[in-house]
Amino acid sequence: MKNPQDLPKLSLGLFPTPCYPLEGVSARYGRDIWIKRDDLCGVALGGSKVRKLEYLLAEAQNGGCDTVFTTGSAQSNHAMLTAVCAARLGMRCVLFLKKRGITEPRGNLTLDRLYGAEIRFMDTDQYSYIYDQMLALDEELSAQGHKCCAIPVGGSTPLGTVGCVACAEEIAAQCDSVGHMVCAVGTGGTAAGLLLGAKCYLPGARVTGVSVYPDSFEDIVPQLAEDTAALLDASLVRTEGDFRVVSRIGDGYAVPNPADTPYIEELARLEGILLDPVYTGKAWAGMLELLKAGAFPGDGSIVFVHTGGAAALFALDLPGSGAPAA
Ligand SMILES: Cc1ncc(COP(=O)(O)O)c(C=O)c1O
Repeated sequence: MKNPQDLPKLSLGLFPTPCYPLEGVSARYGRDIWIKRDDLCGVALGGSKVRKLEYLLAEAQNGGCDTVFTTGSAQSNHAMLTAVCAARLGMRCVLFLKKRGITEPRGNLTLDRLYGAEIRFMDTDQYSYIYDQMLALDEELSAQGHKCCAIPVGGSTPLGTVGCVACAEEIAAQCDSVGHMVCAVGTGGTAAGLLLGAKCYLPGARVTGVSVYPDSFEDIVPQLAEDTAALLDASLVRTEGDFRVVSRIGDGYAVPNPADTPYIEELARLEGILLDPVYTGKAWAGMLELLKAGAFPGDGSIVFVHTGGAAALFALDLPGSGAPAA
């Protein structure tokens, strides 16, 4: 198998990110719980998407692209991180964002502008329509002599997912008792990278993806892990129980769950760590509810992968926040 580090990549973030035990939370829940701080990767407000972008933008640069397109929700973390990375590389960045949810200049939209991205709001629910629009702009700009690269939603291609395999490699070097890894699932690349990374570096460790978007990740994630393995000249050998998806969408994508707020506040107050109500807050709450239900077999540590997303705290309200801890 090829080492993920041997594929062409840029160095955009500060990796490895820290990974350490959460003593207050572990004591409260009676299980060894660790956190992998991809939110501290040193780019904007951080996030695992930077791992994907190190590979995707290397490919774009090596291909001579001067312009990068990507898409996502109006408050997309991936879009914001693409904007900052493109700016640092001197590339023009065009964001095709769904005109849904918070479209005022708050949260990530404030940062998109700060990083100089051009924003095109798309009044649609369909990514297929958005990809057609990207293609049209690509043709227009190509005719003017530019070269464009279109990164799909979430950067969850096999090449982007290679970056998340490296996250599991780091965890293996940082924590010697990993039983489970848990992450939020929005487009599937992070979970797919962890699944493949577990096979390579943490045999026996299981991956739980907490989904925040209504797609069939039970199929998408293993398929993406398999396609990523092929890129690394490896194959994904599945074992029973190595991956599961639990849904924590609640009332919808990017709609905060009132039931998550106490968990978000608990982590903030016990450990000083910020979670967002769209991805990591849902994933963290989902993980703790599974733990309370006895759904993490074995006694190995549970490693929660903090994938970033704090900008959402400055765009969305946490329902019921402010109450004193019980
Ligand atoms: C903060 C945050 N966490 C987790 C995810 C989910 O990662 P993935 O798209 O790889 O499933 C995303 C993006 O979708 C995100 O922005």
